[in-house]
Amino acid sequence: MVIAVDGPAASGKGTIARALARHFDLPHMDTGMLYRAVALTLFRFGGDPASAFEALRACDGVAQVDPTDPDLRSEIVGSIASRISAYPDVRAALLDRQRHFASRSSGAVLDGRDIGTVIVPDARAKLFVTASPEVRAQRRLAELVGRGGTAHLEDVLIDIRARDARDSGRAAAPLAQAVDADLLDTSDLSVDEAVAAAIRLVAQRI
Ligand code: C5P
Repeated sequence: MVIAVDGPAASGKGTIARALARHFDLPHMDTGMLYRAVALTLFRFGGDPASAFEALRACDGVAQVDPTDPDLRSEIVGSIASRISAYPDVRAALLDRQRHFASRSSGAVLDGRDIGTVIVPDARAKLFVTASPEVRAQRRLAELVGRGGTAHLEDVLIDIRARDARDSGRAAAPLAQAVDADLLDTSDLSVDEAVAAAIRLVAQRI
């Protein structure tokens, strides 16, 4: 059983995917971390995100990145990740790793942007998790402040909108709701309510 969870930045898809994995006792992969690992490798070695060739080379460094490295979660790395994820060669280089994880006999939960559309189009359950840009900016700001950082809401909102435009507007595997995905708008839901709604939707599909 594969559960695909897609959605824009700060929609709550990561929290929901982790909760689904716990509830249904499945392994979980946050596929954004793969793109962030490429971005961090590129950043640390002074690579140019505008070069598809340098971004592709950075894919070789993914396995060496410590998944607990706090820099993976930084805004700059997220922004580079959103740029390099538009390169078809980068997406192709990360494809097998994701499909392999999804093919585990136990089943799996994967969250990202193109899980239900490209990585596992035949996933048993697909959720497209979203929320208004304003709500997502508030959440992202709270997360940043919680980690000891500072930022202005307007700047975070501008970044969220820019990320949405890049993720949805790119030619290669753009962020989009799969035709057979269930839509879950978390704008007016607490975390517990969103998780409960996600479990209900998935339970109907399995
Ligand atoms: O989800 P997260 O914000 O960590 O992802 C970072 C970036 O990686 C996203 O902005 C998106 O451009 C890219 N990404 C992607 N496909 C995925 C997961 C993430 O293009 N499956």
